[in-house]
Amino acid sequence: MKIKSIIQSLLFLAFILSFGFKLDNLSRFNITIQQNKNSQKANNGIGPIKEVKLGSIDKRLVEKGSDIFNDKCSACHDIDDVNLAPALRGVTKVLSPVFIMNYLMNTTEMQQKDPYVKSLMQQWKKVPVMKDQHLKKDEARAVLEFLRTKN
Ligand code: HEC
Repeated sequence: MKIKSIIQSLLFLAFILSFGFKLDNLSRFNITIQQNKNSQKANNGIGPIKEVKLGSIDKRLVEKGSDIFNDKCSACHDIDDVNLAPALRGVTKVLSPVFIMNYLMNTTEMQQKDPYVKSLMQQWKKVPVMKDQHLKKDEARAVLEFLRTKN
């Protein structure tokens, strides 16, 4: 409990500090950021997901994913603006669905071992790394569906 509140205070502090960074250092990034990235479609990341079958957009899943996004992601990410973390519009064009789900379910291990995530962390080293929230498979799938609508 105590550790949790220390972590929360640190995150809050980082949040406040980041506003300074946001204005100067980070403002050069913009919504075209995803387009400048090399496709990672062949990279499945590391985690329990081996394959994802995508159909046409499932609206109920999008709603669920949108709620999870507001709850667990929007403190750091915005769809179009650079917040504390990369803007996420177009991210499903760059990253494979399997990669995205593994990253959301197994964030820490991917931060330690995946070359793409490591390079991303280098780019974002002034802000706290993405928090590992160990999303369950159905949650990660819902967030993926939500992100598919933000292309
Ligand atoms: C504490 C802040 C924070 C939270 C909360 C957070 N992220 Fe991140 N996210 C980051 C940072 C920083 C990076 C850069 C790489 C890293 O640190 O792992 C990142 C990277 C990403 C990327 C890769 C972006 C790219 O351009 O390739 C995706 C996708 C992503 N996050 C999705 C999410 C989703 C979905 C959630 C909610 C379940 C979430 N993140 C929660 C900070 C956060």
